[in-house]
Amino acid sequence: MTALPRLLLKWYSQHGRTLPWRDHPDPYAVWVSEIMLQQTRVDTVVAYFEKWMRLFPNIISLAGASERDVLNAWEGLGYYSRARNLHKAAKIVSEKFNGELPRNLDDLRSLPGIGRYTVGAIASMAFGMDEPTLDGNLRRVFSRLYDVAEFADSSAGEKILWELAAQNLPKGKAGDYNQALMDLGAMICLPKNPRCEICPLVKICKAREHGTQDSRPVLKPKKKTPRYVHAAAVIVRRGRVLLAQRQSTGLLGGMWEFPNGRVAADPFEELEKTVNAAYNLKVGKKSALGVVQHAYTHFKVTVHVFQCAAVFIPKDKSLRWVKIGELDDYPMGKVDRAIARMPLASG
Ligand code: ADE
Repeated sequence: MTALPRLLLKWYSQHGRTLPWRDHPDPYAVWVSEIMLQQTRVDTVVAYFEKWMRLFPNIISLAGASERDVLNAWEGLGYYSRARNLHKAAKIVSEKFNGELPRNLDDLRSLPGIGRYTVGAIASMAFGMDEPTLDGNLRRVFSRLYDVAEFADSSAGEKILWELAAQNLPKGKAGDYNQALMDLGAMICLPKNPRCEICPLVKICKAREHGTQDSRPVLKPKKKTPRYVHAAAVIVRRGRVLLAQRQSTGLLGGMWEFPNGRVAADPFEELEKTVNAAYNLKVGKKSALGVVQHAYTHFKVTVHVFQCAAVFIPKDKSLRWVKIGELDDYPMGKVDRAIARMPLASG
């Protein structure tokens, strides 16, 4: 074993985090946790993971669940295509692979939502295979250990980093090695102010030797994210409120929302025209309820919310009158959940 895994595994045995999916005998648990952890912090994931495993304890139960229950269980984690893909993949696994996650790497990779990172994570952590993986933490750790000056988010940088991830895999211990690197990235090799003074790898770190740790990884300059202004309509009639279901693909696919649309300048003036055109409705008299802000990955939104009178609402299966007390049963993104929590006067 080379110095890197030797030092790292020793540190991990003393300082590794205790997490509910670690040493879990079930590959499904590893899979679910890895998908949740892709864009969400460990602290947030723990409670979601535990609830998910209670609701859908195995692949067959997930495959048999409704999309609404699946999205509801995911609500608040964001990036909802992860939940839809898990659900789709569970159906494929129960039909094609007898309800068991396949050990063949190409079969694993063929499943929706499972890319190179997840294959490496599942293979090493759940099946004990000698496979590398590479996530944001590992990119940063390897960029520093080997003082990689290439853009880490370029294809040349990716290639170098994957090679580095494969270089020192300790035989039979790749799962611990990969998770130790993740813990090191989360607790020691931090994006800002890395804690080199207590790092078990300080003696073999090239960036530390060269004093470049604060400028590794090298990333391409970010574009500024745009801010959009939306107007949303809360339409209440006889204790029920009108929700619309988003298309099943794309941002927040399949989730429910209050009719809304982007406006150019004045939300109050433009609400009716925008909402009427987008949902084929007619809303009338309105009064302001509040403003909700949210930052997505690629843009930010400010949503001006108005309570409106219904003038004409078409029969359409993507529109539904929902009892105010039952709004929690409908999966929504953060913005719409904030609107649902506003004091909605029953019209
Ligand atoms: N981030 C992604 N996967 C992880 C894991 N298995 N342990 C800790 N952090 C992680």
